[in-house]
Amino acid sequence: MASVTVIGAQWGDEGKGKIVDWLASRADAVVRFQGGHNAGHTLVVGEQVYKLSLLPSGIVTGTLSIIGNGVVLDPWALKAEFDKLTGQGVTINADNFAIADNCPLILPLHRDLDGLREQAAGSGKIGTTGRGIGPAYEDKVGRRAIRVCDLAHLDALDSQLDRLCAHHDALRAGFGQPPVDRAALLADLAEIAPFVLQFAQPVWKRLNKVRKAGARILFEGAQGVLLDVDHGTYPFVTSSNTVSGTAASGSGLGPNATGFVLGIVKAYTTRVGSGPFPTELEDETGQRLGERGHEFGTVTGRKRRCGWFDAVLVRQSCAISGVTGIALTKLDVLDGFDKVKICTGYRLRGKVLDYFPSHAADQAAVEPIYEEMDGWQGTTAGARSWADLPAQAIKYIQRVQELIETPVALVSTSPEREDTILVRDPFVD
Ligand code: IMP
Repeated sequence: MASVTVIGAQWGDEGKGKIVDWLASRADAVVRFQGGHNAGHTLVVGEQVYKLSLLPSGIVTGTLSIIGNGVVLDPWALKAEFDKLTGQGVTINADNFAIADNCPLILPLHRDLDGLREQAAGSGKIGTTGRGIGPAYEDKVGRRAIRVCDLAHLDALDSQLDRLCAHHDALRAGFGQPPVDRAALLADLAEIAPFVLQFAQPVWKRLNKVRKAGARILFEGAQGVLLDVDHGTYPFVTSSNTVSGTAASGSGLGPNATGFVLGIVKAYTTRVGSGPFPTELEDETGQRLGERGHEFGTVTGRKRRCGWFDAVLVRQSCAISGVTGIALTKLDVLDGFDKVKICTGYRLRGKVLDYFPSHAADQAAVEPIYEEMDGWQGTTAGARSWADLPAQAIKYIQRVQELIETPVALVSTSPEREDTILVRDPFVD
C-alpha cells in the first residue's frame, strides 16, 4: 500500500492542517520527521478543538504517532502538549505514541540563545519563532547535543554536559549573560526523563516493521520548502530540511518509503518572519488577502505578509521536492477580485529569470513579472466538484497547474473536510 508525504511548497502556513487531518484519519501511522514545536495547527474534531505543535496529527484519533529522529524535541513543550490533550480526553500511551531515542533535545539554553541572537540582530533578525530550533540543530550537527537516549544515562552525562556548557557559556558571555546553571539543567532533565523515556525507542525499527506489514504511513512535514535550510531563502530559513527527502532520513526509512509527495500550495502567497518575498503586496490588496485569509501565525500570533501567487517559487519547490501532485488551498480568499495576478518570472538587473536565484541580494532584488487574469465574482467556498466553481476560477487553477508543471491532486475550498474537490487520492494512486 501507498504512503504519503505532505510538505508545504511555500513558506509554511499553506493550510497543511486540514489535508493532514484527512489523510491521518486514513493512515496506519503518522510521522513527524523534521522541525519541532515551531509548527502549529488547530484540529477540529466534532465539538473539540485541539492545538498541536509537536505531536503528530494522528494522535487525536489514536493512530500510531511517531516523532522521528529528524525532529528537535523540547521535552517540556511535549509534556505541556501531552497534558493539555490528555486533559481533553485524548489517549496517549506507548501503544499509539513513540519518540525516536536518537532525537536531539531542545533545552532552555537553546531558547535563551535564539532570543539573545534575535534581540542583538535588530533589523537583520530572522524573525524566528523563538523556540530554540536553530541552536538545537546547531548542537546536533556540532555533535554536542543531548539526545533522548541520554536521558536514560544521566549519571554518565558529565563529559557531554561539559562540552555543551563550555560552548554555550562562551556564547552567553558574548551577550553579557551568566553561564548555564548546569546543576539546574541536570535536575530538570532528571525530572522530565521518566516522562520522555516511556515513549522512547528505535522508531526506525517499528516503522520498518509496520511498513513491511503494508501499513499506510503519513509523513507529516512542517514549515515549507522555501524555509528549507539548503533550498530556501537562506539565511531567512528554518534550520531543518523541509523538503520531502527528509521524510526518509528524519524517520529511519529509506528514500523509497516516502510514496506520493503531496505539496500543499496556497492560492496566493504568505510569509511570517523576515526575508525576501518578491510578490509581497504592502497595499490594500495585501491587506485584503490577509483579512480574508485570517493570516495570523498559529504559534506566535504574528501577522503574515501577503502577496500574489508566485508560480516560479512553487515550480521550484515542486521540482526540488519531487512533488507528485499538489493540494491547492484557500482559493476562496481570491473570490470577488476583479483581476488576479500570477508571477511567471523575474526581472533581475535587466535579465529575465525563470528561477529564484540563490544569493540573498539577488533574491531581494528580483522584480516579479506578472500575468493578469480576470477574477471571478461567484464564490468558490464550499465547492465539492468542478461544476461548483465559477469558470474563471477553474481557468486560474488550470493556469497554476501549467505554470508549476505539477498536477493538482485536490482543491480545498473551506476548512471543512468535505469541502474538497478530489482529483487524485494520494493514498490510492
Ligand atoms: P525558526 O524555525 O523558529 O528558527 O524560525 C525560522 C523562520 O522560519 C522564521 O521566519 C519563522 O517565521 C519561520 N517558521 C518556522 N516555523 C514556521 C511555521 O510553522 N510556519 C511558518 N513559518 C515558520
